[in-house]
Amino acid sequence: MSYQADRIRSLGTSIFAEMTHLANQHQAINLGQGFPDFATPDFLKAAAINAIQQDINQYAPSNGRPRLRQAVAAKMAHHYGVQADPDREILITHGATEAIFATILGLVNPGDEVIIGEPFYDSYLPAVQMAGGIPRFYQLHSPDWQIDFDHLSRLFNTNTKLILINTPHNPTGKLFTLEELSQIAALCVRHNVLALVDEVYEHIIFDGHAHIPLSQLPEMRPRTIHISSLGKTFSATGWKVGWVVAPPEVIQAAFRTHQFMTFCGAAPLQEAAAIALETADGYYQELGQMYQRKRELLMDGLTAAGLRPLRPQGSYFIMVDISDLGFTDDVAFCRYLTSEIGVAAIPPSAFYHNPQDGAGLARFAFCKRDEVLVAAAERLVQLKKGIVQTISII
Ligand SMILES: Cc1ncc(COP(=O)(O)O)c(C=O)c1O
Repeated sequence: MSYQADRIRSLGTSIFAEMTHLANQHQAINLGQGFPDFATPDFLKAAAINAIQQDINQYAPSNGRPRLRQAVAAKMAHHYGVQADPDREILITHGATEAIFATILGLVNPGDEVIIGEPFYDSYLPAVQMAGGIPRFYQLHSPDWQIDFDHLSRLFNTNTKLILINTPHNPTGKLFTLEELSQIAALCVRHNVLALVDEVYEHIIFDGHAHIPLSQLPEMRPRTIHISSLGKTFSATGWKVGWVVAPPEVIQAAFRTHQFMTFCGAAPLQEAAAIALETADGYYQELGQMYQRKRELLMDGLTAAGLRPLRPQGSYFIMVDISDLGFTDDVAFCRYLTSEIGVAAIPPSAFYHNPQDGAGLARFAFCKRDEVLVAAAERLVQLKKGIVQTISII
């Protein structure tokens, strides 16, 4: 007999833990995990230290410190023209992951259908399953991550509650276009379905492209749930400060879950987050430029190694097409890369409900110091020789 609840039994250990363990074992350069290896900006650290010294150290209000809710409202208005009431339409959470979880648990009844794009950020599926929802999948098809809208439209029906969208997208780096978002919006309106947009990479966008707020499309404001967080934008993934911007009924639903999961996030970090959002205007542009340079560094390294990287438009990930390299699947490739070449990447099969669909891909993160990306590129060159050997062994 197992003490474990049925609802978690099918959830394995995440692939991140396994690849990090392997990377440490082989002293590999870890381009697997998606967190920056460089310093959090000084102004953000100073704001947090200051908040602690000012004794902002007790529970925050459960829906978040008012200053942060106001700062999120001001940011949404300034960047996207989205007007949100800080008291009724914004909830501060413990990172975007809790925001996603609380929102899904607050909205989805057993038997409700939730449409998920794949590859997906790995918390989406467990959240839907734990709510008793039924996942339905649409795919972003490589190499340019197109959506088959005939297929997507057939997934919508009277049981559909929610569609999950992630733009800029992890792991593909896709930025949803206005045309794509308009087609999704039309389906949501026709079937009266809510859209949850995970936009944690909203400020990591390249080549002059822009993030398009779904709620600004006709009739979408009452149906859109914007979720984002501080971690990626401010290189502070360990802070776990996130938010939901949505109509009052949705915020109330997410709040009811959130108050009993965490009650509130860390008060001094919420205060620092507010200061960051209030003062960050020029910062966002610099962030995009920095990551565009890093993208080029890793793109060049992967190309020089004889690989086929798929150029991302946003986020800090590059997907590589490994389907013609002779490996049985992405896990075999990533294990080989980590142990023999000394560079760790993530096998994306973990981001598909049918792992075989990700078997021809590998994900590399470029949120690393330039010298780390250069060192990784130097190691990756060995791959050309190594792959030939592997194929001849197989
Ligand atoms: C698409 C996506 N959403 C959400 C998150 C998690 O955000 P947070 O750290 O704020 O919980 C990540 C982190 O990797 C992500 O890639």
